[in-house]
Amino acid sequence: MVNLAQRLSAVRSSSTKAMTQKARQLKLMGHDVITLSQGEPDFDTPEHIANAAKCAIDSGMTRYTEVAGLLSLREAIAEDIQATDGWKVGADQITVGCGAKQVVFNALMAIISAGDEVLIPAPYWVSYPDMVRLCDGIPVIIDCPQRNGYKLTAVNLLRAITPKTRCLMLNSPNNPSGAVYSANELAAIADVLSDYPHIAVISDEIYRNICYNELQQAPSMIAQRNSLGEQLVVVNGVSKAYAMTGWRVGFGVAERKIVKAINVIQSQSSSHTCSIAQAAAEAAYRGPKDVVRQFTTAFKSRRDLVIQQLKQDAGIDMLIPDGAFYLFFPCDDVIACKTPQGTSINNDLDMAQYMLEFYNLALVPGSAFGMPGHLRMSYACDEQTLTKACERIVQAIHSLM
Ligand SMILES: Cc1ncc(COP(=O)(O)O)c(C=O)c1O
Repeated sequence: MVNLAQRLSAVRSSSTKAMTQKARQLKLMGHDVITLSQGEPDFDTPEHIANAAKCAIDSGMTRYTEVAGLLSLREAIAEDIQATDGWKVGADQITVGCGAKQVVFNALMAIISAGDEVLIPAPYWVSYPDMVRLCDGIPVIIDCPQRNGYKLTAVNLLRAITPKTRCLMLNSPNNPSGAVYSANELAAIADVLSDYPHIAVISDEIYRNICYNELQQAPSMIAQRNSLGEQLVVVNGVSKAYAMTGWRVGFGVAERKIVKAINVIQSQSSSHTCSIAQAAAEAAYRGPKDVVRQFTTAFKSRRDLVIQQLKQDAGIDMLIPDGAFYLFFPCDDVIACKTPQGTSINNDLDMAQYMLEFYNLALVPGSAFGMPGHLRMSYACDEQTLTKACERIVQAIHSLM
């Protein structure tokens, strides 16, 4: 018998994927299921980006690229960062990987040794704790409840730091809450961290452009680069902003020492992401930005639609998310209620299960994100479907006694 690696024993498979899988099975059985459990834009990749990929194939861009990614792509990213953040960053401070996900994983692999603690504010993206465990680190969850806007405060950060802390995972705009940290909030966190120069921060900004402020751009930890220096790793990519989840291109920007370490890890795993996808990503960064603005404008009107319906018809008391494309709302009012079938709703998992089984609606329970008593709904789909989904939520809530 082959024994599996010890590190796998602590890792769970993703609950978002499990929910989506279950919804898929019900669909195959002929049910009219609405799946709002997955986190990807429903738009097609813009045409000029897809055309760049076709050109790359036709011109024979089919060989290995640099481990860190094509130099021309890294230069395009550097120019984008300079234009948005005023940071003249070198192409050798950028590393391109197979999506933001791989870059986050590589960064953790580069920073964490066995037994190191990694601070993760909850609610968190489902993958962070398991990534930390796969790196033999210890995830330390910091509860960031609704009354704190689901955000980490400098005081709570300071309280969670121990001699074993090596890294903080930060994610703004946040999946699942949609919370966006202000520039001042980021500065306060950086201020704490600058007193602990051995603690890195991985700032996952993959939803940065899906932000509903006037600039349609969330503040970035990049503004704190001078005080954080090599402590800072910023992660972003094309997946969400340019509707390119399947292309698998993300990047990290950091001081050279960190980027070099990430590249060593990448060189022994994937080598690099697909050359064709890199050409497409370069077209995204060099091309017009109005496509991103159009997507964000559409997400905003969908957000407003679902909030209005859920507040008005189901009286759900939720925070209005400032970014990403998720609604994260409490469901504690229905805990301990009974379904018409006579079973009890004991927690958010029961509620998500009930909605899927009896109302054909797939949402993700807050427990998956380290915050029980909530449900997450992705509103990255058309308004007609969203209206139908909200009606089902309202009916499900009103059916409980
Ligand atoms: C917070 C967060 N970071 C990273 C990712 C992964 O991004 P990518 O598809 O570029 O790997 C996701 C995807 O859902 C996410 O929600």
